[in-house]
Amino acid sequence: MNSTAPSATPERILQFAWAFAAPLVIEAAIRHRVFDALAGQGLTLDALAQATGTSRRGLAAIVDALVGFGLLARDDAGRTALTPESDAFLLSHRPGFIGGIFRHISAQLMPNWLHLTEVVATGKPARGDSVGAAYFAAFVEDLFALSYPAAGALASALGLAAATGPVSVLDLGAGSGVWGIALAQASPHVTVRAIDLPDVLAVTRRVAERFGLGDRLTTVAGDLHAAEFGSGHQVATVGQILHSEGVERSRALLRRTHAALAPGGTIAIAEFLVNADRRGPLMGLIFAVNMLVQTEVGGTYSFEEIAHWLTEAGFTNPRRLPAPGPSPLILATRS
Ligand SMILES: C[S@@+](CC[C@H](N)C(=O)[O-])C[C@H]1O[C@@H](n2cnc3c(N)ncnc32)[C@H](O)[C@@H]1O
Repeated sequence: MNSTAPSATPERILQFAWAFAAPLVIEAAIRHRVFDALAGQGLTLDALAQATGTSRRGLAAIVDALVGFGLLARDDAGRTALTPESDAFLLSHRPGFIGGIFRHISAQLMPNWLHLTEVVATGKPARGDSVGAAYFAAFVEDLFALSYPAAGALASALGLAAATGPVSVLDLGAGSGVWGIALAQASPHVTVRAIDLPDVLAVTRRVAERFGLGDRLTTVAGDLHAAEFGSGHQVATVGQILHSEGVERSRALLRRTHAALAPGGTIAIAEFLVNADRRGPLMGLIFAVNMLVQTEVGGTYSFEEIAHWLTEAGFTNPRRLPAPGPSPLILATRS
C-alpha cells in the first residue's frame, strides 16, 4: 500500500446512503405548509405546530433537519424562520415556487426507483405504463417555475419584444405551456400552437388562461409523431421532450419539426445535457438513470449528439444559448 496516498474515508459513501432523506423531509414540510406558515414571521415550535396542525415531536424532527440543510434558520430565542432560499422558492404562493417537484419525485418517481436493481438486470422500465397522459397531467404544472426563467431568456434571445408582425410558435409537448406563455408574454404578435396529449392540454389551457393568454393559444391533441403541426411557424419549442422519446423517435421528431418551421425559423430544445464523455454534469447522469427506470428507450444526450440530429434533420447552426437552469438551451435554424 502506498503510505503517501490520502486514506479513503467512508463519509462520502454514507452521505449517499442517507441522500433520500432530504427530498422526503422537504416534501413533508411542504405538505404540512411549514414554509407557508413562516411567511413573513418567525415562530416558536409550539406556535408552528399549532399553525400547521402537526405533532410537536414530528415537527421538531423535520425542523431540526431543515435547519441543518440551511432551509430554515433558528434564532437564540428558539424562533424558526425562513432563509432567503426557502423564502424565494418554497412558499407556495410565490411565482418561483419549485416545491411541486418534490411531490413528483416522492409520489411518481421514487416508487419506480425502488425497483432499480431489477430494472438494471432487465433493461426494462419498472412499470410499463408509467409514462402516459395521466402521469404527465399530474406533474407538468410543477415544472412551470423550473423552465420559466429559461423560457424568458429564449424570448429575449429571439428578440420577440421588437417583433412587428405575426410570430407563430409551435410548442411541442407543451405541458404547462411554459415555453409558449413566456414567448407570448414578450410580444402581442405571438400566437402559440400547443401539441400534447388531451388530458395534458386541459392543464395547458388552464395555465394560459390564468396568464390572460387563452385567446392566443390553439391546442392540438395527439401524439407528437402524428398530430398536425401545421406549417410556417417562426419558432418551435421542444421543452424536456427528447429524453423520454429516445434516439430514433427524437430524430424523427426533429425532422417533423423542421418541416413545420418557416425558412429562417428557430427550434429551441431544453434538455438535461451531459458532456460528450458522459462524466458529468451529475444532473444529466442521474436523469439518464431516471429515464432507464421510467421509460423503454429514454436517456440523456450531449449537445454534440443533439446537434448531429439537428443537422441530419436539415437544420443549420446548432448552438447553445446560456439560460437559467441546469443546462443551456440548444437552438438551430431552418435555412
Ligand atoms: C416533461 S414534460 C415537459 C413539458 C413542457 N414542455 C416543459 O418544458 O415543462 C413532457 C410533455 O410532453 C408530453 N408528451 C410526452 N410524450 C408525448 C407524445 N408522444 N405525444 C404528445 N405529447 C407527449 C407530455 O404529456 C408532457 O406534457
